[in-house]
Amino acid sequence: MKLAVGAQQVLLFLLSWTPAWLSPPPRRDITRSWGAYSPFFSVEPYRPPPRGCLVDQVHILERHGARFPTLGAGARIISAVDKLQSVSRYTDRRLEFLKTFEYQLGVADLVPFGALQSRKSGEVAYSRYGHLVTKDLPLFVRSSGGQRVVDSAWNWTAGFATASRGVHTPTISVIFPENPEFNNTLDDHNCPNAGTSTAQTTTWLSIFAPPITHRLNLAAPGAGLLDGDTYALMSLCAFHSVAAATARGSALTLVLSPFCELFTDEEFADFEYAMDLDKYYGTGPGAYLGLGRVQGVGYTTELLARLTSSHTPLSSPLPGPKNEHEHQHHTRRRPAHVPAQPHALRRLLA
Ligand SMILES: *[C@@H]1O[C@H](CO)[C@@H](O)[C@H](O)[C@H]1NC(C)=O
Ligand SMILES: *[C@@H]1O[C@H](CO)[C@@H](O)[C@H](O)[C@H]1NC(C)=O
Repeated sequence: MKLAVGAQQVLLFLLSWTPAWLSPPPRRDITRSWGAYSPFFSVEPYRPPPRGCLVDQVHILERHGARFPTLGAGARIISAVDKLQSVSRYTDRRLEFLKTFEYQLGVADLVPFGALQSRKSGEVAYSRYGHLVTKDLPLFVRSSGGQRVVDSAWNWTAGFATASRGVHTPTISVIFPENPEFNNTLDDHNCPNAGTSTAQTTTWLSIFAPPITHRLNLAAPGAGLLDGDTYALMSLCAFHSVAAATARGSALTLVLSPFCELFTDEEFADFEYAMDLDKYYGTGPGAYLGLGRVQGVGYTTELLARLTSSHTPLSSPLPGPKNEHEHQHHTRRRPAHVPAQPHALRRLLA
């Protein structure tokens, strides 16, 4: 695994470690069924490079840590909660908590749990790759300009610094603004012709949500919930849980929100699939005219330039590792080097 050594040592990480610091939720693990709202988890255990192989350059692309709902998502959640709280009685005791529940989540910002995720991530990066960082080849960090992304990046550098016992004190070298005029290769607004996944997600919502909506409306007679409200309430399970997660030092306890109790594991699997469809058809391989991949071209071009030590068309000096930003409307860029899927997501089309 001998890669070209660039002019700058760049650190990278690819989201594949086991967060042992995240205590498992008490009874069931639905936290992996929250799609883009799921806390980071390892897809596989980390395996160091095999004998005889040497990592000499690392590039890490990382998403911001857990956060509050964005403005639009938050408004839909509040509207759904208001409907549930507008009724005079519940026929299901699992809704009783709503009699005293107050919605107090912020908007879009990192939650303490998200800050801890980023800090831990920096610590893990140091433990795996810290030896690559030297005075001549310093760490290079850049971030997209959204506040939660910048906060994640700072927490990441803080974790890296702490793990190095203060030997390294990395800073963010570049922050790319997220306004549309700026060619921000860490954002997903770079393709004006890109379509949306609305057709697919709306179809799927009309398939999986109606029985749930019906059940909730029986439990809260008169609430008049619509399928969109059901989706919002399922997402609130994730947002409320991560917002309420308590971080004590470096230990973390994630307790599931009472909103999670309103849905079954199977229903969360269907919720997760809605997220799959959103990413697959919104910014992934299934996107309109194949333009999902285009959103990652800028990043991939820069990465190739770094690996070959040439200059990039969009930015100079060569940018370093990044914190990926999720665009406000749930779109999330999928790097262009993710291979096309052999089949469309067939569950929807069946
Ligand atoms: C970590 O993120 C929080 C927001 O959750 C922010 O207030 C704090 O300044 C960040 N920490 C560092 C070291 O930048
Ligand atoms: C962004 O990229 C386009 C196309 O290469 C270019 O015309 C434009 O000047 C760039 N904008 C900035 C702010 O660099």
